[in-house]
Formats: sequence, structure tokens, C-alpha cells
Amino acid sequence: MYNLNGRTAFLTGGSSGITLGIAEKYAKEGMNIVLLARNEDKLAAAKTIIEGHGAKCVAIPADVRDAEAMEGAFQIAASHFGEINVIVAGAAGNFLAMAKDLKPKGFKTVMDIDAGGVFNTYHAGFQHLARPGGCLIAISAPQATIPYPAQIHANAAKAAIDQIVRTLAVEWGPLGVRSLGISPGPIADTEGMARLAPTPKALEQAARAPVLKRLGTKDEVADLAAFLASDHASYITGTIIPCDGGLGLVGLAGLGG
Ligand code: HXC
Repeated sequence: MYNLNGRTAFLTGGSSGITLGIAEKYAKEGMNIVLLARNEDKLAAAKTIIEGHGAKCVAIPADVRDAEAMEGAFQIAASHFGEINVIVAGAAGNFLAMAKDLKPKGFKTVMDIDAGGVFNTYHAGFQHLARPGGCLIAISAPQATIPYPAQIHANAAKAAIDQIVRTLAVEWGPLGVRSLGISPGPIADTEGMARLAPTPKALEQAARAPVLKRLGTKDEVADLAAFLASDHASYITGTIIPCDGGLGLVGLAGLGG
């Protein structure tokens, strides 16, 4: 449907959650898949899932905070599949902490994983990226523009990611590379929701926040990621597209409703 068959996607944070959902969608579309994540057990399980869809899959254990490891990871990916067509920067870390209680180390950790990780991924991936034709997709969040309490670290990191998206659209657009973001709202069955809405009551509140009054699904985000990676989106770059049930329209007011 998206004509992605035979192309290669490299996904960080690809062993779970939203990004694994995207990897599964790409696998079903016939893409070669490279998964990079820290936890080797989760990575092995994800590789089995991807191969179950009939796709070739290489799984690389690494931390996106380690720039040297990211260079090595792209070399491994290129040795298997040649040039990379799509990079999905999905690795993220989060927990709830009010600013006065958050240690500077905690703030730095999330900035390093989320924002630093996206930079390291794209910096290392550049030389292996199809040019023209390459596509970058960073996983942002409504927190990039909505200042949620207890998430100063993630709010700042996701805002930084949005500017990375836009800056690379400007710098690499002339080379034929598109740079995009997806901003998922509350998505069911993800580690992110488990962390941000750890109780049934909190989950119910999160589901009421978007104007569509429900949680999203990983498939809904994956469909957008497939469209953005495809030639159907060939004139779209430098923008962060919400897949949030309209959460961004109501912002913090959604928490009350
Ligand atoms: C307060 C905390 C904390 C907590 C960690 N810290 N957990 N502070 N409450 N629950 C702070 C502490 O200061 C800690 O250092 C420092 O962060 C580093 O924590 P470590 O656990 O040592 O680091 P690390 O092993 O690298 O773990 C990174 C992590 C962790 C982000 C902190 O939670 C993690 O790895 N999570 C797994 C990935 C994840 O979160 N996935 C969900 C992503 S969903 P000290 O020395 O003080 O202990 C997502 C959705 C976002 O991101 C949507 C909205 C933006």
C-alpha cells in the first residue's frame, strides 16, 4: 500500500511500545528492519516478532547516549542492508518528578536519552542515509509544547527534539532528505503510559484528555509513520504531526475534563 517494499528502516527504541509498533508495520510492508535498544532480552523478543512478519531483521544492543556505539551500529546496519532509507528516532526515557524534587542528574539523564539520543542517531546515520530519498522520523510528544507538571525534563527534551527535526529539515532538505516528527498522544499498551498513568484512575483521566475521549493505538501511530516514510509524503518536511486525538487543542485543560 505504501510501496516501502525492499527499503530499510533503522529504529531506536525499537524493542517496545510505539516504535516496535512502527517496526511491525514497516516489516509487514516488506521493509528490512534494524532495531536498536538497550535491553538485550526485549530486543531478542522484538526481533522474533519482526521476523514473524517475514522481514529481515538485525537487532543491535546499544545506548543512544553513546555516540561511538551509534556510529558502530549504523556500520553494522549498512553491512547488512546497504543504505538506510528511514531512521525512526524513538528511544526515550521518562518518569514523573516535580521540578523541586528532580535531581539535576535526572534532568540530564532524560535530556541525554531523548534529545541527545536523537542527535547522536541522526549524526551517526547521516553518512549511511539515502540521499536523496532519506526520511527521518523523530518521536516527539505533546509535552514539547504543553508544560505538563512533573515532566520538566521530558517537556524540555521533547521541545529540543522538535527543533532538531526542523533544523535538519533545513540543513538536509537540499540533499533530498525529509525530517519529520510524530507527536503521539496517550497511546494504549505502552511503557510510556504505564509510567505516566500508573493507576487505573490515572489511565482513565489520560483517556479523557484528548478531544476524541479515548486512548490512541500503536497501529494508529504506525499508519502515520508508514505514510510519512512513503513517497505519498514526498513533499512534507520540517513539521511535527500530532497523532493525539486532538489533545494538543486542549492541552492542560484536558486534564480537568
Ligand atoms: C525521580 C529518577 C527516577 C524516578 C531515575 N531518576 N528514575 N528521579 N524519579 N523514578 C533520576 C535519578 O536522579 C537517577 O540518578 C537518574 O535519573 C538516572 O537514573 P538511572 O535509572 O540510573 O538511569 P538509566 O538507567 O539510564 O535510566 C534511564 C531512565 C529510566 C529514563 C531514568 O527510567 C529508564 O531507563 N527507563 C526505560 C525507558 C523508558 O522510560 N521508557 C518509557 C519511555 S516513554 P540517581 O543517581 O539519583 O538514582 C516516554 C513517553 C514520554 O518517554 C511521553 C512524554 C514525553
